[in-house]
Amino acid sequence: MKVALIGTGFVGVTAAVVYASFGNQVIGLDIDQSKIDSLNKGKVPFYEPKLVELLASGLASGNLKFTTSYQEAISDADVVIVAVGTPSASDGAIDLSYIAASVSQAAPYLKDGAVLVIKSTVLPGTLAQVKTIVNNLTDKQIHFAALPEFLKEGTAVDDTLYPDRVVIGVENKAAFKILEELHAPFKAPILCVKPESAQLAKYASNNYLALRIVYANALAEICENSEADIDEVIEAMGYEKRIGNHYWYPGLGYGGSCFPKDVKALAHFCQDNHMATNLFSAINELNEKRPVQVLDKISRVVEGFAGKKIAILGLSFKPNTDDQREAPALAVIPRLLNDGAAQVSAYDPMVKKIVSEEIAKNKNYQQTETLAEAVKGADLIIALIEWPQIVGFDFATTKEEKQQFFFDARSQFEMKRMQDLGYIYLGIGQKF
Ligand code: UDX
Repeated sequence: MKVALIGTGFVGVTAAVVYASFGNQVIGLDIDQSKIDSLNKGKVPFYEPKLVELLASGLASGNLKFTTSYQEAISDADVVIVAVGTPSASDGAIDLSYIAASVSQAAPYLKDGAVLVIKSTVLPGTLAQVKTIVNNLTDKQIHFAALPEFLKEGTAVDDTLYPDRVVIGVENKAAFKILEELHAPFKAPILCVKPESAQLAKYASNNYLALRIVYANALAEICENSEADIDEVIEAMGYEKRIGNHYWYPGLGYGGSCFPKDVKALAHFCQDNHMATNLFSAINELNEKRPVQVLDKISRVVEGFAGKKIAILGLSFKPNTDDQREAPALAVIPRLLNDGAAQVSAYDPMVKKIVSEEIAKNKNYQQTETLAEAVKGADLIIALIEWPQIVGFDFATTKEEKQQFFFDARSQFEMKRMQDLGYIYLGIGQKF
């Protein structure tokens, strides 16, 4: 099948290489010439495990190429998949300008019978807007579909190759048949639903997962103020079949490119439609409060951050990615600096430069090449992200004679071991 992918971000590139790996003729399209040049040379402009290898084999097989030309990518395509960004606007609504721009440019080149698929995360109702734009620009008969993605950064290739399900939102059987054939090699359950249901299912899944995390963090806060241990509580709950023991672990709140944006989008939808209750707004609020609440508590225990040397371990929003969008470090570091920390030294195995210019130019902030340098002289170490390089580090080699606090934000370190090393251990979801 001939497939065009519009948008060569993390979703678009992953989908392109995976469709090509199943023998489809795939063209990835982007307006950014330098991105296209590097992809055609086998270089991925962001870090994602396994992607470079699959890109190389796609390019070598001749099944995959990248272009900036709408005419070249779209004219022959049976399926055109739009995977451009839908960032949050300042009021929490999603910004559809990239979708509108890309479908407007694609429309004149769409061939008769082509399926135009929206993979970007959009709210129910968006397809109607897309149809209006496209039908005003072409007389051809175009099918429209929604095909949400459910992949996670760090495991995007495997999530795409082995999805739990493929949700296809269509208005007619003809479009479904084409997309069903395209996804047959995935060997996953394929659901045929209304486009609006497909779009909401994506939001509903992400919001539910975000709610679980907020719930785990609310329990963690109770544990921090009692003798209960969050790991034991979660384990005990997880045996209940209706609950399950996955996707539960606490921290300083969810981050990344999807959850914060998708929760805000549903909150905005409820508000816009004057709904009586707005659970999503509450999820967002609780998540935003979480780092503040934890830092207040740590600050009380260490008697303020002023004048302290503090090490931050982990700048990405989670391990195995260099993505810093809504990373906890971006909430934690400004607070420490504002409270007068004498020095904040940050280390991350992959992020080489913090995205925030404001933090980067602060004279009390520095980023180190190694973990050992970051923790040197630290009064307080904050292990923010569960990178294997951080969790597996031997902190016995860096423990100093002086009093040192160690805050474990992901409940990854054994309390007794850290205490035996001489650290004053503060653990998320543990009394401190
Ligand atoms: C998420 C969804 O999982 C994915 O289906 C969707 O397509 C995009 O958004 P991603 O943002 O890559 O994927 O990361 P994920 O691993 O789901 O983590 C999101 C955030 O939640 C991270 O900040 C992570 O640290 C946090 N999290 C996750 C927790 O705090 N606790 C958990 O148990 C799981």
